[in-house]
Amino acid sequence: MSIPDEREVNAQVAAFEAELSKATSAREAQTVRDRFLGRKNSVVASWMQMIGDAPAEQKRAIGRFANELKQAIETRWTAFLDSGRLQERPAGAVDVTLPGRLPALGHRHPLTVVRDRMEAIFTRMGFGIVEGPEIEDEWHCFDALNMPAEHPARDMQDTLYLTTPVKGETGREDDLRTLLRTHTSAVQIRYMKAHPPPVRIVVPGRVYRRDDLDLTHSPAFGQLEALVVGDGISMAHLKGTLLAFVREMFLATSRVRFRPSFFPYTEPSAELDISCWQCDGAGCQMCKRTGWIELGGCGMVHPAVFEAVGYDAERYTGFAWGLGIERIAMLRHQVPDIRMFYENDLRFLEQFPY
Ligand code: FA5
Repeated sequence: MSIPDEREVNAQVAAFEAELSKATSAREAQTVRDRFLGRKNSVVASWMQMIGDAPAEQKRAIGRFANELKQAIETRWTAFLDSGRLQERPAGAVDVTLPGRLPALGHRHPLTVVRDRMEAIFTRMGFGIVEGPEIEDEWHCFDALNMPAEHPARDMQDTLYLTTPVKGETGREDDLRTLLRTHTSAVQIRYMKAHPPPVRIVVPGRVYRRDDLDLTHSPAFGQLEALVVGDGISMAHLKGTLLAFVREMFLATSRVRFRPSFFPYTEPSAELDISCWQCDGAGCQMCKRTGWIELGGCGMVHPAVFEAVGYDAERYTGFAWGLGIERIAMLRHQVPDIRMFYENDLRFLEQFPY
């Protein structure tokens, strides 16, 4: 073995570093370390031994170089361990100090939340929740609602017709055209055909129109229909029920107003507005400074509708309305674009963690 001197210290340190860098496991690294620094048969151990065997005048120098080498290798070994390069954990070990990984819990879609809330309010008022088919025939969707064949709403430009009639779905076997229902009012007809008065129902559901997708329109959207029929039902009942609903849904101080309108299946008909809950009617950006926000259409059921379903039009009266669910959700949460509800962008949906 060569005599320990400065050059030899540097050469041994370089060799140690080179071998250590080639190690591919903690065990290999430990072997390298032991070969240079171990108590027996290592480079450092053999240099230490030389001190004892050397002539007196060389002992000091050999001792100094042996210690220099020992320290240099120890320093590099500690640095290597600190780097954690080849740290191995026993198989199957779990680091219990890591924070747990929570499963990503979903929640209801904001439109579902609004719909559920509306249903809950009407259920508390004693309404039944009724559903009907989305694939409908033109009698239920139009004829029975006092919209005869030439009515513009039946135009191909407004309504999505199925090329093949789906019989059985609609309960009719004749040659009526089949369509995707354009409003939940079709379910009024189904329900009244099957049940005698009195009636007190709400009908939530999806409806379809040939509308282009834009800020406020979608070809598929949700409506919530209400229908009340009985003896002596009047416009006052319509207004009172609506007021009770909006005061629960929006503000305790909400007000409603009617504007004259036209629907073939109601007479009189009205557009219904609610006082803006942002400014309580004072006028703000949300209500376009009018103090009012439009919610949907309503009216007293037209006698022709009662005749179509076999109700005594002389005896019974009733009211109905249809509200857009997206419209209510947009206004409640100040969502500026209806498309946000359908894009499934989690950055949007996670803002409604109900
Ligand atoms: C109707 O659909 C009537 N059937 C409502 C009705 C029922 C009147 C019972 C009288 C008695 P209208 O077409 O205005 O009415 O639609 C009602 C609501 O649905 C609108 O106020 C609006 O909020 C919503 N709506 C209509 N078209 C779209 C669309 N393309 N996208 C999203 N929401 C829509």
